Amino acid sequence: MDVVSPLKLVVNRSAHEINVSNSDTLLTVLRDNLGVKSVRKGCDSAQCGSCTVLLDGKSVKSCSVLALQTQAQSVITVDGLAEANRLGSLQSHFGAKHALQCGFCTPGMLLNASEYLVQNSDPDPARIRQQLRGNLCRCTGYQNIVRAISSAAKGDDYDESESLNLCTHPGRVEDSRLLRGEGTFTDDIELPGQLYAGFLRSEVAYAEIKKIDLSALKELVGVCAVFTEQDVLSDGLMPPTCSWQITDVSGEPMRSKSRPLLSSKKVKYVGQPMAMIVATSRKVAQQALKKIKVHYSESRPVIDLNSALK
Ligand code: FES
Ligand code: FES
Repeated sequence: MDVVSPLKLVVNRSAHEINVSNSDTLLTVLRDNLGVKSVRKGCDSAQCGSCTVLLDGKSVKSCSVLALQTQAQSVITVDGLAEANRLGSLQSHFGAKHALQCGFCTPGMLLNASEYLVQNSDPDPARIRQQLRGNLCRCTGYQNIVRAISSAAKGDDYDESESLNLCTHPGRVEDSRLLRGEGTFTDDIELPGQLYAGFLRSEVAYAEIKKIDLSALKELVGVCAVFTEQDVLSDGLMPPTCSWQITDVSGEPMRSKSRPLLSSKKVKYVGQPMAMIVATSRKVAQQALKKIKVHYSESRPVIDLNSALK
């Protein structure tokens, strides 16, 4: 049962006192209660590192910390790294070395790297990679991130104005904004009357789905709609096709089937979507997802090439 308690928290050197639920994570409180959108919600399951913040100087994944565990502690987000409205040194090195593309992972990377720099003055790429092992980036390939942190560790001088001058340096105009965590991503958009979707995802790698039990949702106020594979099919929505067709050496198509939008019979990977909830708030959507019971019959997952070819 949710119990509401007061929480005192210092965020980027400003004190806050708010009421939070015992199930709220630090990530939820920062984004939804305090409006600190630079803390990104990627996986919400401690895997991607995009929600990294410094908690009393230590990097933590804020999606895996309960807000009430942080009572009276100090949180630094990427907003707290800039100095007097200028990019901090590490941010400037990220810009100079092109260590960002979409910028989604960048706040988490910067905060984790800043912890590294406080504890290590050496620019050892192997140790930097070790430090960043919990922070995933879909865009950069990591090389430039490691270069940027090495260069910051060496104390190389960097002039921010140079990185932002397109005539003398191939920097991008959006870099300064993204390095401050000011990019706007889909999950940051708030519109009047907006509804929120939540996806029920498989927790197992390979299984038959025996039953998706939605009965507990009836008691929950704020759930507007629930969609499963049957709803998608009865609406005539077809699974999306692969964007390009892969063929084998003889020219035969190698992928004839695309994945269903929502799966009700079988799941083939952890995270495969099985149902979608639409609710009046993120919180209700999350509560609803927790109430759905899925009965699986698990099989051994296919994890090597030879098994996959059978
Ligand atoms: S959102 Fe916290 S680790 Fe991915
Ligand atoms: S820059 Fe896009 S995810 Fe890292």
